[in-house]
Amino acid sequence: MLKIAFAADTLPGQRALILTVAEKKKLGEQGIKLDRKLGGALTRAMEANHFTGAAEQTLTVLSPAKTRLSRVVLVGIGNPSKLDAAACTRIGGAAVAALTGKDAQAILFLDRFKDMGMNDGEGAAQVALGARLRSYRFDKYHTQLKPEQKPALRSLTVAVQNHAAAKASYAALDKIADGVFLARDLVTEPANILYPEALAQQVRELKALGVKVDILDEKQMKKLGMGALLGVAQGSVYPPRLAVMQWLGAPDAKEAPACFVGKGVTFDTGGISIKPAAGMEDMKYDMAGSAAVIGALKAVAGRKAAANVVGVVGLVENMPSGTAQRPGDVVTTASGQTVEVINTDAEGRLVLADALWYVQHHFKPRCIVDLATLTGAIRVALGVEYAGLFSNDDALSAQLTEAGKAVGETLWRMPMGTAYDKMIDSPIADMKNIGNGGAGSITAAQFLQRFVKKGTPWAHLDIAGTAWQIKDRPLSPKGATAFGVRLLDRLVADHYEGK
Ligand code: BES
Ligand code: MN
Ligand code: ZN
Repeated sequence: MLKIAFAADTLPGQRALILTVAEKKKLGEQGIKLDRKLGGALTRAMEANHFTGAAEQTLTVLSPAKTRLSRVVLVGIGNPSKLDAAACTRIGGAAVAALTGKDAQAILFLDRFKDMGMNDGEGAAQVALGARLRSYRFDKYHTQLKPEQKPALRSLTVAVQNHAAAKASYAALDKIADGVFLARDLVTEPANILYPEALAQQVRELKALGVKVDILDEKQMKKLGMGALLGVAQGSVYPPRLAVMQWLGAPDAKEAPACFVGKGVTFDTGGISIKPAAGMEDMKYDMAGSAAVIGALKAVAGRKAAANVVGVVGLVENMPSGTAQRPGDVVTTASGQTVEVINTDAEGRLVLADALWYVQHHFKPRCIVDLATLTGAIRVALGVEYAGLFSNDDALSAQLTEAGKAVGETLWRMPMGTAYDKMIDSPIADMKNIGNGGAGSITAAQFLQRFVKKGTPWAHLDIAGTAWQIKDRPLSPKGATAFGVRLLDRLVADHYEGK
């Protein structure tokens, strides 16, 4: 794991030096000094490689003469007066990406950060967060790695004038990164290792942070009448679980909580409406919504947020078998509403229907935000840049959109309405679990809304396009992103703490 430290100045004996450069190739004090010592090598390198200092651009100069350095990495920061927290985080990510697999130790000198609009200590903390987030690796199943294939970077020192302030504001960010890493680990684990009870066991680990945890088994869910969730689970040899987490950090433990609900399908074969073989292995990440909720609870508990936050995740495996549910089956949800299961591959909404009922039955939510890798259609609509936001509440939508912008987990609001709602009416039951073609992400959201009581602010985030990436991202290597962890943490920080 990458160790982060802060210092006032560069330290002797460092091998890799990272220097920030403002737009128009503007070096800072350190950069100018070093460039002089190197006979203008940095300036020549910038020119030779069309490096302008635009935000997140990087340029590496190897083993510069007259120094003991292995490399100097220049990282662009654009216009310093325009730097905000999200931009600082991405700069930290870009710096680490440029180093990956090379030096064990590096120092990142925040040159020109004094010209910045925000406090340079806070900016440095955000840079450090980005560096840590981008350094994530999941190596546990590689048993034959050669030394040069193992992650080299073990410690990064961020040098900034206001280093004490940086260290202080990084403390909470480090806890948020812990939540992100947990979520990424859970999403990356294969489904033979991470089945519902194994995921529930991971939730129990949060007790160590003061989170109250209750795990419901099949029997308890039967008693509550959760026929939709149980119907999905009945084809698997692994029994389902419903995990309930409570972080009661508000001064008043009875204050109504913000409630987060996650889809935790540990593997989605599609069931009897089976998916094609190509790409099916990706469906291990169909529990990314639950991982985001679990990671967010770890983050808020880790930084001791002064808010009450509840997380509920429905954990099932969707398998075809002799005991699996059939297309055409009618199931009764805990809310009493009945569902005709037209397609067993539209299983996430069935799991969420009962989980949504549970949070409203047991708590008085101030708001409900559910996260789910719910539809392939959202990837068609929004690609991998935005998650789909569906909501019955303009204020909650605006808060989520703002929080998403602030942390770089961006949301795009999609329409909802009665015309879409009608598309899931069924001739035999209260509703069916898919529409008639078209607007697949919206009809899925309409389905969920039928399980939300009028007057409860609710939002659904369809993260099927953003939870797993096939290319490296500014703040995560390819694979699991933990999309939603920082967003939910930010929502809590901005709207539910101290209020
Ligand atoms: N887990 C899938 C959605 C998904 C697809 C997530 C691709 C990530 C990547 C979900 O359970 C599903 O199968 N949805 C179906 C719904 C359809 C049957 C109405 C889909 O999107 O095809
Ligand atoms: Mn499915
Ligand atoms: Zn699914």
